[in-house]
Amino acid sequence: MRAVVCRRPSAPGELEVAELDRPAVTDDGLLVRVHASSANPVDLYALSPVGHILRRRRPVVVGTDFAGTVEAIGRRVTAFEPGDEVFGAARGSFAEYVSIAASGGVVRKPPGVSFQDAATLPVAASTALQALRDHGRIESGQRVLVNGASGGVGTFAVQIARSFGAEVTAVCSTRNVDLVRAIGAGMVIDYTRDDFTRSGERYDLMLDVAGNRSWSDCTRMLGKGATYVGVGAAGVQHGKGGSRAAVAHFLEMRLLSIGSGRRVVALFIAKLRKDDLEFLGRLVESRRVKPVIERSYELAGIPEALRRIDEGHAQGKLAIVVQR
Ligand SMILES: NC(=O)c1ccc[n+]([C@@H]2O[C@H](COP(=O)([O-])OP(=O)(O)OC[C@H]3O[C@@H](n4cnc5c(N)ncnc54)[C@H](OP(=O)(O)O)[C@@H]3O)[C@@H](O)[C@H]2O)c1
Repeated sequence: MRAVVCRRPSAPGELEVAELDRPAVTDDGLLVRVHASSANPVDLYALSPVGHILRRRRPVVVGTDFAGTVEAIGRRVTAFEPGDEVFGAARGSFAEYVSIAASGGVVRKPPGVSFQDAATLPVAASTALQALRDHGRIESGQRVLVNGASGGVGTFAVQIARSFGAEVTAVCSTRNVDLVRAIGAGMVIDYTRDDFTRSGERYDLMLDVAGNRSWSDCTRMLGKGATYVGVGAAGVQHGKGGSRAAVAHFLEMRLLSIGSGRRVVALFIAKLRKDDLEFLGRLVESRRVKPVIERSYELAGIPEALRRIDEGHAQGKLAIVVQR
């Protein structure tokens, strides 16, 4: 099978498409023929020195999200059958076949959702959903601010917050203003022109995808009883500050917020859960959420897609067409 591999810690430009054996099917696992995938900042982790060492399989196959058709099942699997259309997340999904435990982050794809749309959901939409619902405890009628609203997580967050009945204010750059308005943001703040922390507005919940503001900036917009959820931090995925800078940022947010009367969740790591994937599949099938896709790449275009992710200015999701 063809797969995108990383032979040593490197930049996205050094990834290559290699011919590998298909992964084995374990007794409790599935082998999935991958039709589509999508790129996420987490995919860059496999290219970092630590991420590379922690991957046992050699060469390291990059990628996480997938949507495809079950090709084979292990002898103890009863929940899936060959031919089922599925989507989920597993290491090594930038490949024509991926193996995953049947009990893992994989569910049936709703028939009305394309493989490409389904493949945009696992990492980015699960993160947005868990940030808003589980950590943010979002409620209908609340005022929600999404800082970093135009990328993968942000475009899902705006739409999911709207589906919960919240009023959404989105922060993005000039080129994305119309986009985030079109997907449901009632107010849009262009961060290249205005400082959203000085608008005088107050919010019940701030979802911080960009992670570039200090606690004292955030307190100007968060009244007593409001919640701050930190999703990302500036420079983490883009190799400029590293994860130590992110940990320091979120530690500072937590420490400074003690006794402030605001609830701070910083940082949480999203989990791939079957019930969340099914929930997200239904949101897309019912058209309450529409994945925003900047463009699609073939397997050979993945170095370019990850370079774009590394720059930190993707518009919605970057989809990958693996095989038809
Ligand atoms: N905690 C978790 O479990 C988890 C899971 C997934 C992702 N993440 C993190 O969440 C972050 C976003 O992920 P993603 O998949 O959405 O990334 P992405 O698709 O690459 O999107 C990045 C977005 O950030 C926006 N942005 C850049 N600078 C900004 C600024 N100064 N102010 C506001 N927005 C800015 C960009 O919009 P413009 O082009 O308009 O600047 C772009 O749309 C990353 O740090 C990632 O590592 C965390």
